[in-house]
Amino acid sequence: MRPRPRRLRTTPAMRSMVQETGYTAGNLVLPMFVREGIAEPEPIASMPGVYQHTLESLVREARRAVDAGVGGIMLFGVPEKHDATGSAGVDPNGILNVGLRALRDELGDEAVIIADLCLDEFTDHGHCGVLAADGTVDNDATLEIYREMAVVQAKSGAHMLGLSGMMDGQVAACRDALDEAGYPNVSILAYSAKYASAYYGPFREAVDSQLKGDRRTYQMDVANRTEGLREALLDIEEGADVVMVKPAGSYLDVLSDVAQTSTVPVAAYQVSGEYAMIEAAAERGWLDRERTIAESVAAIARAGATIICTYWATELAERMKSV
Ligand code: PBG
Repeated sequence: MRPRPRRLRTTPAMRSMVQETGYTAGNLVLPMFVREGIAEPEPIASMPGVYQHTLESLVREARRAVDAGVGGIMLFGVPEKHDATGSAGVDPNGILNVGLRALRDELGDEAVIIADLCLDEFTDHGHCGVLAADGTVDNDATLEIYREMAVVQAKSGAHMLGLSGMMDGQVAACRDALDEAGYPNVSILAYSAKYASAYYGPFREAVDSQLKGDRRTYQMDVANRTEGLREALLDIEEGADVVMVKPAGSYLDVLSDVAQTSTVPVAAYQVSGEYAMIEAAAERGWLDRERTIAESVAAIARAGATIICTYWATELAERMKSV
């Protein structure tokens, strides 16, 4: 009569039957980059297999992802010109908005089209907001621009806006702007617990980031757990439809806290550095690439994420199909 947990691991069918958590392709979101002024897709050196896309390759790869079953596409824009206020972000003909229209034209409602709503890709100083005279990031002046971006992105066909700037009050500001402009059904994914992380390193190359310095006055201190939950609860109160924890793999404790308490779906973003580490180790033959990818994403689902943003979304979805 001694306990024998191994009984439930004896066959693949037994293991499958007792599996507690998992995810479907529909839970996966593929982050993509569209770059202005290039004729061919541009590989991102620190993210092997990930590209800055032309409009044409963006649409083609998004179509491939969605045909594999991927649930959402999250789009980032890489403009040719940067300026102090990130004006390319609010320009309806700015690359991100053009890209959103192209995706919506191709995909309609087949996938959730998510727009990155932040200024860092567009500003010449690389911060996620505009600067005050003293050089600090001006929270409330930034909210005014976010409001404009929200409306332009909704007009361009986004189903959901990914608010990644970590400005206080950004969810309420964008919700109001959307409602006032007649977009009550465009939803908000709030990057609620977004940490000032070194794991974003490769992403900075991906979006040609102009940043000098760091984002520690607005992104969270990596040592803080309770504050992650606080940020998520504030965003829910402000009207967020989805709250997110980012990065994912090194923040599963925060993800678990948020998932246990949240009344809205919880997302997690497996970021560029998480991708790069596994790809690099696999390239050297130090890790089994497929198994490590699967394990890293399974752990994020186990910690409580319903929605998982990962650069491996298409590959994972295609793998599920071929099983
Ligand atoms: C900023 C933003 C970042 C990422 C997504 N949105 C970088 C940052 O805050 O510096 C990182 C994503 C990744 O590393 O994959 N708008």
